[in-house]
Amino acid sequence: MNSSVNNAPATAQQPARYGGYFKRDVPAPDLELTSTNAGTPMGEYMRLFWQPVCLSQELTDVPKAIRIMGEDLVAFRDKSGAVGVLHRHCSHRGASLEYGVIAEHGIRCCYHGWHYAVDGSLLDAPCESDATRLKQTVCQGAYPAFERDGLVFAYMGPPDKKPPFPEFDTYSLPKGTKLVPFSNIYPCNWLQVFENIMDHMHTAVLHNHMTVDGVDEATAEGVTLEGFGDMPIMQWEATRNGNGIVFIAGRRLPDDKVWIRITEMIFPNYLQIGSLVPTAARERHSTSGCTRWNVPVDDTNMIIFGYRHFNDEVDPDGLGCAEDCGVDKIDFLVGQTGNRTYEEGQRAPGDWEALVSQRPIAIHALEHPGTSDVGVYMCRKLLRDAVRGKTAPDPLYATLSAEGESLPLYAQDTVLHVPELPADVDRKQIMELGKRVFEIMRSADALPANERDAHVRRQLDLIDGGLDGAPAPRSTSSALA
Ligand code: FES
Ligand SMILES: [Fe+2]
Repeated sequence: MNSSVNNAPATAQQPARYGGYFKRDVPAPDLELTSTNAGTPMGEYMRLFWQPVCLSQELTDVPKAIRIMGEDLVAFRDKSGAVGVLHRHCSHRGASLEYGVIAEHGIRCCYHGWHYAVDGSLLDAPCESDATRLKQTVCQGAYPAFERDGLVFAYMGPPDKKPPFPEFDTYSLPKGTKLVPFSNIYPCNWLQVFENIMDHMHTAVLHNHMTVDGVDEATAEGVTLEGFGDMPIMQWEATRNGNGIVFIAGRRLPDDKVWIRITEMIFPNYLQIGSLVPTAARERHSTSGCTRWNVPVDDTNMIIFGYRHFNDEVDPDGLGCAEDCGVDKIDFLVGQTGNRTYEEGQRAPGDWEALVSQRPIAIHALEHPGTSDVGVYMCRKLLRDAVRGKTAPDPLYATLSAEGESLPLYAQDTVLHVPELPADVDRKQIMELGKRVFEIMRSADALPANERDAHVRRQLDLIDGGLDGAPAPRSTSSALA
């Protein structure tokens, strides 16, 4: 045994073999980005945006206790249909309103009957002979809230900074799109789940394992990963003045086809991805298949709330299933949710196992990033700039003041017919195609919402056949066209 090697601490030139002894310390997490409790930099930044807090189906005839960004809250729908999101502990002497009685208007605390409206106003205090003064001085903590397509949204920031709710084109593109709400619970910090989306290379490894021998067929049913198994050619670009980021993934497919997939994050915690069931056989352009908000419960728990988008473009083979989406359920890969046994997770790990096992809060200081991690590190840098107030406002959000206006978003899949070239040249060609598709998506920003989709499809037709090739006729039929 060479003891001089075994006992040597690591150096920049030579890692110490059997050097576990020198690596036992676990540094503190990066709390500037990971902690969202009230008063923290990220927590105050995230509170400037509308956040989903539960599914509509979770609002029943009894209140729902929820925890969002470390705040204990209660959500309910009163008998008039109004939604309330209130601080959980009653202003009188602290009983939890999760045991309250839902009234025609608002909620009544179980202990002494103090009755609060959805805006927190005290309406009644039956144990008091004269509650007039109390009604003028007491108000339960409350947040503005509303329901949209099966999700309950709340705004938890300063009242004078409440923004309009951002509508995106993709909620109604193509015509007939149905949004189905879901949630997905992760017992770990919100950031490692969010930034996982910019780590697209993992799809070729983690998700490719789901289809190899040794995995129970039943665990992979209903999902095809055709095309995802190949290592993508990756590029990342900041968007919206640094308020977002996209990855552009290019893959060579059989039969002289190239698949360009773009996924976009918008800070602090929103994202859309393309079709969840892309197949190499599809030959058209399709928009978002899934919207997600990565919502912190506290610093070591989070919930993805989102919409699956169902239409015949993002799900042409009908593999997605709305009935499989709901509370901690999504009709995607197994391994997205934590509802399997430990052994099942070990034998066929998915995102849930990979992300939760990064520690309750991933320790960035212990990472050894490679070139495939550029997107994750860009994401963190842009987020940090935004948290520190260094980022100019998103120019696209300015259009939200117009009634009925919606915002463009770049998430999409496109398959182009492009003859294969020798490997190195083909790689450059695929990167150029990816850039061109992204520029086409961005070129629609200045157009009215109802013209963007047709514009994008026309422009994509022009590069089908190759960047310099003659336009090739292909089906780009839009349900809007
Ligand atoms: S603690 Fe709620 S009414 Fe007394
Ligand atoms: Fe994944």
